[in-house]
Amino acid sequence: MKSKASSKKKGVASRVRPLVQGLHAYVPGEQPKIRGLIKLNTNENPYPPAPGVLKATRAAVDGRLRLYPNATAQALRTKLAALHGCAPENVFIGNGSDEVLGYLIRAFVEPVASVPAGELGKATVQYLWPCYSLYPVLAETHGARPKAVPLLPDYGLPTAAALKRGGQWDFEAALSLVTTPNAPTGRGYTTDELEALCRAQKGVIVLDEAYVDFAVENAMSLAIRYPHVVVCRTFSKAFSLCFQRVGYCIAHADVVAALDRVRDSYNVNGLGQVAAEATLDQLPYYRRNFARIIATRERLRRELTGLGWKVLPSQTNFLLAEPPGAPAREWLQKLREARILVRWFTAPEVQQYLRITIGTDTEIDALLKAVRRSGKVA
Ligand SMILES: Cc1ncc(COP(=O)(O)O)c(C=O)c1O
Repeated sequence: MKSKASSKKKGVASRVRPLVQGLHAYVPGEQPKIRGLIKLNTNENPYPPAPGVLKATRAAVDGRLRLYPNATAQALRTKLAALHGCAPENVFIGNGSDEVLGYLIRAFVEPVASVPAGELGKATVQYLWPCYSLYPVLAETHGARPKAVPLLPDYGLPTAAALKRGGQWDFEAALSLVTTPNAPTGRGYTTDELEALCRAQKGVIVLDEAYVDFAVENAMSLAIRYPHVVVCRTFSKAFSLCFQRVGYCIAHADVVAALDRVRDSYNVNGLGQVAAEATLDQLPYYRRNFARIIATRERLRRELTGLGWKVLPSQTNFLLAEPPGAPAREWLQKLREARILVRWFTAPEVQQYLRITIGTDTEIDALLKAVRRSGKVA
């Protein structure tokens, strides 16, 4: 994180804070500029928002655009509270769940520079790795200490006892994050194992459930029962609303009050609020989509396995799969030549795999056709 770059920079660049000069921005999946590519690289939902959501959003595009939106997204908080069986005081909305994660760090984690050497836990953002690669970026931006502790070799969750024995995991860390189900591995965790970890944890623990609607279990009850447990969700993945940027967390009212103190004044845009509220009136439409995506996921898993790929079990809307015959990076290129985008990560723990978002059945058929063709020339 520390950088000598400031001494070498010239002009206004030398005035940028040394911390910021040393940062590495999060690298998102490619958003292609050319049309006609099959996009299976950023875990977007292949199905459009429900017709009622499009109608409500269009209807809101009028003279009201000159007004500020509701500063707390109160109507959405109230609707989400009803959905999850909690009070509106337990709901916080963000401009995507990425923003909620950033605010959690802002509210609970000290910058390293402001804690004495013996109290580094107060400046620690801890996570089980591999996981969502934004966490270290957010920690570093805040001047906090990112701390990655490995998952089990099969990407399972270590027990609290094993974490104690291993000695790396800090049960007092200011903020711990668990991606559940995990990304980019796709692996799901049971509520029981998550609860055991949460009970052992003293600091705030965040369960990032971005993909939970494609999973067998969810851990929302833990956020409702334990004051130090926060569950983050998003409208991006299951609810086809990436474009609008709406995410939220459910947490103890004191956590929500802290987040309200650190957030930007109008952090959730008006059309996003309208679309997310309308989404909650259309849940049966989305539940049908979850079922379709899960069915397509399982078909793709079977077919790729039959073609010699090693495919990890998934409880998300993507698969992590190791291609045969050539390194994943080469397959990424071959599929790109076939106009299909998938994601490849450079992290050593997962670099033998490709992450493939579940598209429509037609898109997945095109992927399988390209895989069969590329496999023959491998
Ligand atoms: C695990 C995880 N959490 C959170 C997010 C962010 O979602 P949002 O679009 O709500 O910011 C993502 C997006 O890829 C993700 O993979």
